[in-house]
Amino acid sequence: MTLLEIFPSLRSGMTSPRLDSTVWPCETHYDDLGQITVGGVVLADIADQYGTPTYVLDETEVRRRCQAYRKYFPDAEVIYAAKAMLTKGIVRWVAEEGLSVDVCSAGELAIALAAGVDPARIVLHGSGKPLSELESAMKAGVDRIVIDSLTEVTLLSAVATRKQQVLLRLSPDIDVHGHPAVRTGVIDQKFGFPLGSTAAKEAIDRVMRQPMLELVGLHCHLGSQICDPDFYGEAIRRLVAEMSRVEHEYGVTLPQLDIGGGHAVAYRCGDVEMDLSMLADIIEDALDAACALNHFARPRISLEPGRAIVARAGVTLYRVMTVKHIEGGRTFVIVDGGMNDNPRVALYGARYDAVVANRHPTGPHMTATVAGRYCEAGDILAADVQLPTDLRPGEVLAIPCTGAYHHSLASTYNGVGRPPVISVHEGRCHEMIRRETSADLLARDLG
Ligand code: LLP
Repeated sequence: MTLLEIFPSLRSGMTSPRLDSTVWPCETHYDDLGQITVGGVVLADIADQYGTPTYVLDETEVRRRCQAYRKYFPDAEVIYAAKAMLTKGIVRWVAEEGLSVDVCSAGELAIALAAGVDPARIVLHGSGKPLSELESAMKAGVDRIVIDSLTEVTLLSAVATRKQQVLLRLSPDIDVHGHPAVRTGVIDQKFGFPLGSTAAKEAIDRVMRQPMLELVGLHCHLGSQICDPDFYGEAIRRLVAEMSRVEHEYGVTLPQLDIGGGHAVAYRCGDVEMDLSMLADIIEDALDAACALNHFARPRISLEPGRAIVARAGVTLYRVMTVKHIEGGRTFVIVDGGMNDNPRVALYGARYDAVVANRHPTGPHMTATVAGRYCEAGDILAADVQLPTDLRPGEVLAIPCTGAYHHSLASTYNGVGRPPVISVHEGRCHEMIRRETSADLLARDLG
């Protein structure tokens, strides 16, 4: 008999705050044995079947987020930023939900095409696209290429064998005060051209003079984890003014305005996320005002969310290897993954929650730091989290909100292969990406 059977009232307290719905996939519950289930599948069973660490991805949650974007932005083009998490399966789901796809390399393009995404729904990005990449994109017939440098104008014109639609990436000098590594709307950073600069004007001028290139709009990407929708309103005001300038100078009305991604998600209970309904209102108001002020025809807005589509759908499973109480120091829970499968803590100081997945602990808790298995002191997954004092080696820990920039940023440091990606949906799981083995690592080593 389980504790839950003896005290059924325990179950009513089981949905919060440990499984806060802003952080976990919507289909997350405790089962009758007190084990966490996502998409109807027991997480501990996935750990048993596929080993650990393992990325779990809830298909329903990904589709739900796509649907939310379609609902709040019915007139906009929603482009999934595939760099957040890309497998053939995911890109198929988002395409089925009516989203376009943004890729930033020949590899990402190949995956999107292999998944059957219509090239007419693909946009190519990148701050240093090699010639071969531009060629494969054009050959594949990608709809739009976002130009990031003057060199690219030259390269693209050289390889264009038919008319290619392009956007020009501008930085509108908007500081969203995010982590410096993902602050891209300011002037002094590597992407695009500063709005109003000589280089930006020259880029527009050169594109206009290239018969094979058709400038269809402007692009900006302000940064990541942005909670305040007003930044997007300001970007629209500044970019529409520039579109109007282009119209006056060249007699060409640009029909598209891509305002990038960067919408914040909650990583831990209590974190603020982007309010899509407020964002939609602010975009509408800014468009109305800017178009009226500049007597400019309303462009079609494109949005490029990555993290906001997949972050919450992901849960990473680890097995506890050991628990160490350092005299005069912290308590460390060492798990069998770490900075290889989640470098975000080391890179950006990201904070995560961690919970026991194989049982619902009801006893006392301790403050502990979940650390990884890799050979670096900075290999931390979750600092100062509450875990049961009787936590034992072999138990399964789950870290929520790990769907974005985890699989895609993973490495094989210390010769440890990357984890599999297991999707869950209506009680079934499917191995989307298999675990990387030592044989895989050796296969690239030509001796
Ligand atoms: N569009 C462009 C042009 C981008 O460069 C990015 C992300 C996005 C859209 C999507 O941004 P999102 O909605 O996912 O924030 N590795 C970092 C994030 C790097 C973002 C790079 N660009 C992290 O783990 O936080």
